[in-house]
Amino acid sequence: MDGLDPREPTPLLSVRHLSKSFGAVTAVDDVSLDIMPNEVVGIVGDNAAGKSTFLSLLTGYNQCDRGEFFYRGRPVEVSSPATSRRNLKIEMIYQNLSLAPDLEVWKNIFLGEELRRFGWLLDRRTMIRRSQEALARLNAKARPHDIVGTLSGGEQQTVAIARTLVFDRELIIFDEPTAAISLNKVRDVLQLIRDLKQHGKSVLLVSHRLEDILEVSDRIVVFSHGRIKAIVQNRDIDIEDLVRLMFENRGGDASA
Ligand SMILES: Nc1ncnc2c1ncn2[C@@H]1O[C@H](COP(=O)(O)OP(=O)(O)OP(=O)(O)O)[C@@H](O)[C@H]1O
Ligand SMILES: [Mg+2]
Repeated sequence: MDGLDPREPTPLLSVRHLSKSFGAVTAVDDVSLDIMPNEVVGIVGDNAAGKSTFLSLLTGYNQCDRGEFFYRGRPVEVSSPATSRRNLKIEMIYQNLSLAPDLEVWKNIFLGEELRRFGWLLDRRTMIRRSQEALARLNAKARPHDIVGTLSGGEQQTVAIARTLVFDRELIIFDEPTAAISLNKVRDVLQLIRDLKQHGKSVLLVSHRLEDILEVSDRIVVFSHGRIKAIVQNRDIDIEDLVRLMFENRGGDASA
């Protein structure tokens, strides 16, 4: 997989030959991958396979030693969280949905990315209006002035989605969102992923819970020792197939 193939539909995001070492450890080793618009991609792999490091290169929290990034077929620079957000339109959602429970909904939507007038004055009115518009698009019950911590889990998720709408983020990334939560909440997170897809977004989901991966992914990428070992369409495959792909010896069929 070298360069971008002009015969194929343009991926939302492509990476080519990404590598990242920490001292003697090669955490990500020559990884190339395309993520299509409106696609949910699941990533699985053993501990220390390089999944989180791969995500950190996409989100700009780590810088790759080698490799290229493309957004809709155009080469872009990704050297920091800010350039990742701007050039790849990525939003990472952490386990608490990246929300501050004590703050109002509109403040959460704009947290860390507040709009300002004259470069310094907080533009409250515009932020509240744009929050209202995004919530309306989602038919959300939550209102801009509600305190996030008083909302139900499902309503809090609409706040997280509203954030991606307001900032036009295209790729939403989750790293083990269901590792340490109750079954009810697992269902909420999987629903959030489906909702994001329904709103035209792409999602990258790293999880050890293979049943979650199989439930929401369009395609599944298997990482092993820093490399992509297999990419499979999520059709007619089950957990056993996935486990076999994860643990069988190298040289297995990496068909798409
Ligand atoms: N900041 C760092 N400094 C040094 N080594 C690191 C750092 N981050 C990751 N590594 C190493 O890189 C390798 C890949 O780690 P990574 O966290 O990406 O794996 P992972 O697939 O996410 O594993 P897990 O399933 O356990 O979350 C590991 O050997 C890890 O120890
Ligand atoms: Mg990890």
